[in-house]
Amino acid sequence: MDLEDQTRNRRTAKENGAGSIDPGSGAPAARGKGMPPQDVTERVSYLSKELERHNYLYHTLDAPEIDDALYDAMFHELQSLEEQWPSLRTPWSPTLRAGGKLLDALPKKKHAQRMYSLDNVFSEAEWETFRDRMRRACLEGGEFPDVFYCDPKLDGLAIELRYEDGVLVEALTRGDGMVGEIVSDACRTIPTVPLRLRGVPPRCIVVRGECVMFKEDFLALNEAQIKLGAKPFANPRNAAAGSIRQQDLSVTRSRKLTFLAYSVGDFQAAGGAEESLPESHTDLIDTLQNLGFLVPPNGKRCKGSREVIEYVSFVRENREQFPMEIDGCVIKLDSLSAQAFLGFTARSPRFAVAFKYPATEVKTTLRRIEVQVGRTGALTPVAVLEPVAVGGVIVSRATLHNEDEIKNKDIRVGDVVLVRRAGDVIPEVVGPVLSERGDGVSPFVFPTHCPACGEAVFREEGESASRCINLSCPAVRLRSIMHFVSKSGLDIVGLGNKWVEELVLSGRVRDPGDLFSLTVPELLSFKRMGEVLARKFVTALTEAKEHVRLDRLISALGIRHVGVETARTLAVRYKDLSSLANATEESLMDLQDVGPEVARSICHFFAVPENRHLIEKFEQLGVVTGVVQDENEGKRDLPLAGKTILFTGTLRVPRGMAEACAEKLGATPVTGVSRRLGMLVVGKNPGSKLLKARSLGISVLEEEAFMSLLKQYGVDLGNGA
Ligand code: IVH
Repeated sequence: MDLEDQTRNRRTAKENGAGSIDPGSGAPAARGKGMPPQDVTERVSYLSKELERHNYLYHTLDAPEIDDALYDAMFHELQSLEEQWPSLRTPWSPTLRAGGKLLDALPKKKHAQRMYSLDNVFSEAEWETFRDRMRRACLEGGEFPDVFYCDPKLDGLAIELRYEDGVLVEALTRGDGMVGEIVSDACRTIPTVPLRLRGVPPRCIVVRGECVMFKEDFLALNEAQIKLGAKPFANPRNAAAGSIRQQDLSVTRSRKLTFLAYSVGDFQAAGGAEESLPESHTDLIDTLQNLGFLVPPNGKRCKGSREVIEYVSFVRENREQFPMEIDGCVIKLDSLSAQAFLGFTARSPRFAVAFKYPATEVKTTLRRIEVQVGRTGALTPVAVLEPVAVGGVIVSRATLHNEDEIKNKDIRVGDVVLVRRAGDVIPEVVGPVLSERGDGVSPFVFPTHCPACGEAVFREEGESASRCINLSCPAVRLRSIMHFVSKSGLDIVGLGNKWVEELVLSGRVRDPGDLFSLTVPELLSFKRMGEVLARKFVTALTEAKEHVRLDRLISALGIRHVGVETARTLAVRYKDLSSLANATEESLMDLQDVGPEVARSICHFFAVPENRHLIEKFEQLGVVTGVVQDENEGKRDLPLAGKTILFTGTLRVPRGMAEACAEKLGATPVTGVSRRLGMLVVGKNPGSKLLKARSLGISVLEEEAFMSLLKQYGVDLGNGA
């Protein structure tokens, strides 16, 4: 097996196939009135087609036919003709790739079908267990096709592209899997994202894939960032994500991103045609290539477990040679009907798994151990290291987790230590290299007093962290306020830790409430604060004061164990802060996602007088919280509202599609049969689920009957049915 050539050398191309192009013909810049003349219409259409073809030849096939100068000339000609005759600019015009327009904050949108993540396995044994689970589940429905499609796992940003009648209409990021950000304009600047599909396009297709930055482009970008005095990106994935979510599209374009397609979400065949998705993932990848997409390099159809394992080792051994970061392989059942049969758990597909490689480990010296105090008062040791490159990223700090970790691993200042970084995870110290320990290094003594306020720290039984419980500890306050404005809190863009630190040190901000009364003149008294920034902060804070969503405000408080999700549940249930503040542990525990520990933590938080005082302060300042809609509310009138639904057996349509339709009727798809299951829909060869459902007296519907129910309520299954 050879590594495919994925480098993008700009080959000087022969000027063939370009004889009919006259680069000089697009000169006039004045706007044309009325209908464009026929020859202009034809020219625009010709240029548009040609440019798109050359773009594909260059970026996707890596086989250019013309050189850059000619391409640019054609591009500018088209651009000026379109400026002159705006009605001629099609939604798939190659000039839309140019960028230059400013984006506002990114709007969000719900995915038509959820974008799942993958389960991980880390060893052959774990893979065998996963495969065995697939095998047993498949056998319930008849047979196990022991064939897999394997490709490298690309470490970038997952994106889905929706094409209608062959034209790119929308691009979404994965987001949390349910809701993504709309990044259509940014994706149009990526040369390997086809604006129009090649060949005979389906009526509608949602293509999923990864947007990556090649390693060499990443290094060049970081060099340029450093030269400009800007912060370098942590890794190619962050750089790709940052570039897609850029405000300035010309910057996005300059970042040299590559899109590689690996799967298909929604699909509808062309008008009434019989054709549907191919039978296997291997053929699906072919289809994607024929439609004009680049796919992950070195994908392979593997028969049986041995071939899969060989493939996984091949990619591991050649990992460094790939032009993009690879953090494992993805192994998918090749048969698409078997994929549909197995379906998804709440989080990930049952038919695919990521085989992750162990993180890279590198040696360096531990210079110091700093102990930080977090917003919950927890003391966290951080290793300050001799800077070292780990998997292409410079690491100078790493987490040591907690006191016991240092003790158990016997990590000492001055030691040579192994440092590990796995994907996005914060780098960590694996342990000391004892054979290289110098003389005179002594064990680390963990502080018994808070490094910020000097009060004694406590460690509760069964807890791993020592905590500073001084409510007025400056470090705890500072961290709480930092959290309050951070992304998990009110998300005040630009008000980063440095500014919060200055505001707190000046004494002007003592608690989160003080932020809401900041004025522009006050802010201007801070060094390096300009009028524009000061206004931006005050506007954002006023906006938050007047409209903040209750779930955001709850999450911003930084109550232990209450993250964004739990905050949402609490907001839907309690509707305002003071009701939440008065809730009892019992009533809190009635909620889904809230167990005894979380309930205790919430009550504990609101029992502290300072926190009560903060809530009152919010009220006095006129903080108004927006109502958080219960996502299920609008569904109440739907025919299957409040019912759970499960599909079993081989369905005639992909399971994901059937589930999406059921959701449209108000049902919630679940994965197992229990007494509470609302209904079971059975396809061909149903297995034990049917027996179990019957024995529990659950209503069972044939697929046909389910389809007519859908029809009755006007839910369209497309032509996949
Ligand atoms: S197939 C249901 N193939 O990894 C998901 N995913 O950690 C099936 N990813 O969300 C996706 N490389 O964004 C597939 N060759 C590849 C991939 C790949 C990267 C991403 C994908 C997924 C994430 C899970």
